[in-house]
Amino acid sequence: MTEESLSQEHRTFQPDPAFAARANGTADMYTEADADFEAFWAKQARHYVTWAKDFDQTLDWSGAPFAKWFVGGELNVAYNCLDRHVENGLGDRVAIHFEGEPGDTRTLTYADLHREVCKAANAFEALGLKKGDTVAIYLPMIPEAAIAMLACARIGAPHSVVFGGFSAEALHTRILDADSKLVITADGGFRRGAPSALKPAVDAALEHGEHPVQKVVVIQRTKQETAMVEGRDVWWHDIVDGASEEHTAQPHDSEHPLFILYTSGTTGKPKGIFHTSGGYLTQVAYTNSVVHDVHPDSDVFWCTADVGWVTGHSYIVYGPLANGATQLMYEGTPDTPHQGRWWELIQKYQVSVLYTAPTAIRTCMKWGHEIPMKFDLSSLRLLGSVGEPINPEAWLWYRKYIGGDKAPIVDTWWQTETGAIMISPLPGVTTLEPGSAQKPIPGVSAEILDDEGQPLTEAEKVGYLVLTKPWPAMLRGIWGDPERYKETYWSRFGEKYYFAGDGAKYDKDGNIWLLGRVDDVMNVSGHRLSTTEIESALVSHPHVAEAAVVGASDETTGQAVCAFVILRLGGEHQTDDNEDIITELRNHVAKEIGPIAKPRQIMIVPELPKTRSGKIMRRLLKDVAENREMGDVTTLTDSSVMSLIKSGMASGATE
Ligand code: PRX
Repeated sequence: MTEESLSQEHRTFQPDPAFAARANGTADMYTEADADFEAFWAKQARHYVTWAKDFDQTLDWSGAPFAKWFVGGELNVAYNCLDRHVENGLGDRVAIHFEGEPGDTRTLTYADLHREVCKAANAFEALGLKKGDTVAIYLPMIPEAAIAMLACARIGAPHSVVFGGFSAEALHTRILDADSKLVITADGGFRRGAPSALKPAVDAALEHGEHPVQKVVVIQRTKQETAMVEGRDVWWHDIVDGASEEHTAQPHDSEHPLFILYTSGTTGKPKGIFHTSGGYLTQVAYTNSVVHDVHPDSDVFWCTADVGWVTGHSYIVYGPLANGATQLMYEGTPDTPHQGRWWELIQKYQVSVLYTAPTAIRTCMKWGHEIPMKFDLSSLRLLGSVGEPINPEAWLWYRKYIGGDKAPIVDTWWQTETGAIMISPLPGVTTLEPGSAQKPIPGVSAEILDDEGQPLTEAEKVGYLVLTKPWPAMLRGIWGDPERYKETYWSRFGEKYYFAGDGAKYDKDGNIWLLGRVDDVMNVSGHRLSTTEIESALVSHPHVAEAAVVGASDETTGQAVCAFVILRLGGEHQTDDNEDIITELRNHVAKEIGPIAKPRQIMIVPELPKTRSGKIMRRLLKDVAENREMGDVTTLTDSSVMSLIKSGMASGATE
């Protein structure tokens, strides 16, 4: 089969009987969960979690949309991820095979990880950290990221992990919003073959006047020259290495906050999505078991996400560790020092379950299938996808060239807000349909509604995805803003439906196809970015009068950031000088938000298309950015604006 013909053929894939015979997920789970979803979740909670005190009520939805799961129960999340495995004689099992980008390696068994977490917890407590205090974690992908998160969980101090690719500005806003007293960072990490500093961004974030931070703990990773602020900054090795290895994990309430994770929404300010303990741990462990089909005694699981995103929280730290699984953790990029690095790692560590994003698969497709074919990938028995829709071409390529034409693929739909996988096939049970996430997993209920809020049943009609029942790992709110929580998720179709913000449709077999965001959120390489947030960053530049941002479709990254900008330069827009200002504006966005938000394309325009009520018509700008014939312009105040924009397009710079 040639690569073109891969997508021509409509094929579905039946479960392989040998796979099905060993699969953790079973067809009965659907019937069981449908019959009594609360009883189903109570059973999972008792199966996957060790409770210090059993719960007496499964779900309290009386304060909807604020849920309480496993009410009255007490647990320690870190105990569940570490101590109980050591107590069960699994201390020698590898928890993390770490591979740094330069090729340095570390192996941490469950006993090692337990010891390191206890030491870190003791060291943080000695700095004054108490249950309920929040901690900002700003780290590269090194084992200390997981150690720091688990130490916080152990103490009951909610962490707020900020992705290392975010700027000092972004870190500053998140530190303030979560009121974090402690920051855990590193001198730097390795990126594309070179050390890349991180600590200076923390210093810059804390130079902004008032802030709640009392201490900054710095891990030495790259050994770069690092300035330390006297009285505030301490080295990790100075406080953790000598700390006691004994630390008793106190039980916390099932609803005790475990973490805050900021994500982009429709307005400029990022939302602090917060998750609690018992329900979250139950669902991440359950999904890692039935969807990733992880068998802790034999699998090597590799989730390629960064711990700075929810995928890393749920499927590097909490889910697999709660299950006692062995994982690979890799610090760097897929093409350093060569484009076969990932496949080399799979061969080296005998990875059996791989969980990655469509954008990475499409990038590897572009590099050519000859690269993975040079490596022995026969250890892989299951593949997963997350973060954005996976197009059938990429799905089929993934199966053929990475999965040896046999590994099932699970396309998993979920969000920072849902905390864990929600819609996905069950490997070994579901007949797979390339490109579709297919069905809610057992215990989860979804529907697709039309504009009026009526459930759609007919195939191929496009509507809005909603979740119709609460689920254990659901967000418990937006940190410090309960009204915004209700308004964002529980008002579009009334208070009974969680509005996910995604378009969706059914196919004729009743499979759900996710069709991308219906709000102002873009998905660039599986990273969530808000158009308004980037627009605010652009207009904060003194030369910018107005800006409009759209997500234009992009073959590799799914969507790409395209900005249309009106400059303040007295109405004159010379094409000759634009190159400089465009570069300056791209860097300005990187400074305000982070390099991931840099527009691929900035077009300097004389006007923006607006409706008579003054709303920017982003739909038309998207047409321009995607080089399409323009849609209906009759509602514009001035329909000549679009011709002006199109004729001025030559002045736009593309990277
Ligand atoms: O649009 C959906 C898309 O990613 C959004 C959630 O982004 P975030 O909170 O950053 O979490 C990403 C990792 C869980 C969703 O609203 N999305 C995620 N997974 C899929 C997806 N779209 C289609 N198919 C998926 N499998």
